[in-house]
Amino acid sequence: MKNGIAIVFAAVVALGASWCGLVLAPTLQLGGAKLTTVLNSPDTYPLQRTGEASLGLQIYRANGCAACHTEQVRQDGIQAELMLTALGNYQPEDFKAFTESLFVQQALEPVTNALAINLKGWNGSLPFVFLTTSDKEIADKINQSINVPGVKSELRIVATGADLARGWGPRRSVAADYLYDQPVQLGRLRAGPDLANIGVRQPDANWQLLHLYAPKAVVPNSTMPSFKYLFAVRKIGAALAPEALKLNAEFAPAAGYEVVPTAAAKELVAYLLSLRANVPLYEAPFTPVTTKP
Ligand code: HEC
Repeated sequence: MKNGIAIVFAAVVALGASWCGLVLAPTLQLGGAKLTTVLNSPDTYPLQRTGEASLGLQIYRANGCAACHTEQVRQDGIQAELMLTALGNYQPEDFKAFTESLFVQQALEPVTNALAINLKGWNGSLPFVFLTTSDKEIADKINQSINVPGVKSELRIVATGADLARGWGPRRSVAADYLYDQPVQLGRLRAGPDLANIGVRQPDANWQLLHLYAPKAVVPNSTMPSFKYLFAVRKIGAALAPEALKLNAEFAPAAGYEVVPTAAAKELVAYLLSLRANVPLYEAPFTPVTTKP
């Protein structure tokens, strides 16, 4: 073994370098992560999950939900969206003509085409997304130009990307979203939808329970496996228990029996409902919807 020392040295360097890259660097970057503040608000983010929801995270982990579901929303970028909310005394046709008269401004040239097409397809109803552009300055300029008495508009920052278009959340996922989670259930395969924001998308605990017991009872073509063992089937006592699942004939238990969630099912649902990554943060800004129907 002439090269013994060299081999040991090379091994130490290789292992040391990967340890630095995979353990040390992330710890330095995120190990001291603290609460962050919600954009334009005194609130901090995220809130600690309730005890029940924290237990639910362990049920989620134990049942391998992360094998089919991710909890990470991706984003391509942001765009400025100028929305018209009131026209005052203007009729839509007059307002169109007024806006078209602004097109002579040199500074608006990059977006006049898009604007013209957009205006052409507008039937006069409000609120109306007047312009969507990646150039916030131009959106600002147009917003000022149409700022005449009676006309109200709102300039919003919207996050864009395929995941967001699917309705999986209003912004990308960031490290703060997982601050209190141990272990983090990022997931990497999407047999089912992303769940980063499921507590906002489907906040009905009864729906969630029914879906876990018999996915097809609420989503007819669902391919999600049922998690019946998180529920107990028992003889009905004096009366139907208030928490008994309201199942239709196809999924209902034998006559005289009822299906009730176990503590594990309730914890899991508490966890699902606590998944709410829906506030704008400094590192992932967007303007919350106020006027959109
Ligand atoms: C074998 C893959 C698979 C596993 C494992 C799985 N799911 Fe699903 N899940 C799906 C599919 C497919 C859908 C979409 C159809 C539907 O809504 O039922 C779905 C949908 C969902 C939805 C509704 C999402 C929405 O946007 O409407 C929730 C909530 C959910 N799953 C939670 C869970 C939980 C909690 C677990 C673990 C106990 C789990 N899933 C395990 C495949 C899976």
